[in-house]
Amino acid sequence: MHIVHIAVEMAPIAKVGGLGDVVTSLSRAVQDLNHSVDIILPKYDCMKISHVKDLHYQRSYSWGGTEIKVWFGKVEGLSVYFLEPQNGMFWAGCVYGCKNDGERFGFFCHAALEFLQQSGFHPDIIHCHDWSSAPVAWLFKDHYMHYGLSKSRVVFTIHNLEFGANNIGKAMAYSDKATTVSPTYSREISGNPLIASHLHKFHGILNGIDPDIWDPYNDTYIPVPYTSENVVEGKRAAKEALQQRLGLKKADLPLVGIITRLTHQKGIHLIKHAIWRTLERGGQVLFYPISCFSNSLLIVVLLGSAPDPRVQNDFVNLANHLHSSHHDRARLCLTYDEPLSHLIYAGADFILVPSIFEPCGLTQLTAMRYGSIAVVRKTGGLFDTVFDVDHDKERAKAQGLEPNGFSFDGADPAGVDYALNRAISAWYDGRDWFNSLCKKVMEQDWSWNKPALDYLELYHSARK
Ligand code: ADP
Ligand code: GLC
Repeated sequence: MHIVHIAVEMAPIAKVGGLGDVVTSLSRAVQDLNHSVDIILPKYDCMKISHVKDLHYQRSYSWGGTEIKVWFGKVEGLSVYFLEPQNGMFWAGCVYGCKNDGERFGFFCHAALEFLQQSGFHPDIIHCHDWSSAPVAWLFKDHYMHYGLSKSRVVFTIHNLEFGANNIGKAMAYSDKATTVSPTYSREISGNPLIASHLHKFHGILNGIDPDIWDPYNDTYIPVPYTSENVVEGKRAAKEALQQRLGLKKADLPLVGIITRLTHQKGIHLIKHAIWRTLERGGQVLFYPISCFSNSLLIVVLLGSAPDPRVQNDFVNLANHLHSSHHDRARLCLTYDEPLSHLIYAGADFILVPSIFEPCGLTQLTAMRYGSIAVVRKTGGLFDTVFDVDHDKERAKAQGLEPNGFSFDGADPAGVDYALNRAISAWYDGRDWFNSLCKKVMEQDWSWNKPALDYLELYHSARK
């Protein structure tokens, strides 16, 4: 089968969030199953070009009143066509954030279909993603279905229903099949008017992570390569390196890491609460007497970036405050830093994901790949992938798994406290048990092995 993804993000060259990871990792998994996969991406001026192999100019075509240069290169072993309109639409220094993003990406979608048609491509599947490449679905039906691309079928994936409702509604109507990125999120949004009348063609397929891209045994950003066999040594070295790099107290203390965009979705108020809770644990007695946790025992690291300047400012203030009051135990790195994220995944004991809603979430999966224990709110894909050691034994068993983390229900501070307290207590109470949990989660398979097969089945069914 020949699959073409039309997308506006792709890791690691143009990644803003998990959408970029998924475009790359799903494509690699499907390609590994001996299918042919191409990706069409805008050629951004801000692209990390050093990650593109053999980038070269191929040809130009005229469309939409401008010349479009086509470049070709390899990214993580995938063939990528880069479209560069000479009107400068993608020379904005960013992927998103221009006032005319809708217009820019609409133009790109049309230009991408035009490129496929003019180049004589006949893909079996054209796969588009989120509001940004949703226009592919209706442009295809309006302009291309009856011409050169008649053999193709369109699959549309919703990574996040929060953005671009108009585009998503139209793509739901025009695509041959539609998916979202976890079974639970598909149920959560099934009553939404944009989705409800299309349930017959709508499926929840869980995201995976790429075990070669996220691999603690082959990761240049961490000090000691490790597998589940030497997870304790590997993580100890990573924790020390992380503490040294961030100027934190060098000690074997429970370390809670948070790696996130700082937006409402990610539970900003819960993140703030968790930081204080982790550090202070002074005000309330929840599951454990306060005296169990002296103030000097915990370390918290937040790596986050906030698109909203007010949120960024708020966290800058919190960071300044914490760096003076808890200098050796808290670091808030308010930036996007891929190498540092690897060191945090490896060096943390816990990765906290207190999202208000989460279509899938990749950070909890990456955490597990690095032997870190996920502490999550039970929503969307977090519910589907994290099974509480105290409460979800049966639910895990039904999936052929063992419990692998800590979770909570409510969207209030008490929920975070409930899960975080149990997690930290487990760390203190039984290091052997805790270490064996780390080993166990590393051995769980959150790759694309199964979900890629689900996508192939869906692609086949779209063609029937
Ligand atoms: P979303 O796409 O909603 O942001 P996901 O969990 O699906 O959430 O994906 C987030 C991706 O972005 C992960 O690969 C994560 O490691 C990465 N990430 C998030 N914030 C940062 C950051 N501040 N620095 C580096 N990587 C980050
Ligand atoms: C979106 C969602 C996230 C998901 C990612 C990849 O950004 O917020 O939950 O993991 O897309 O599908």
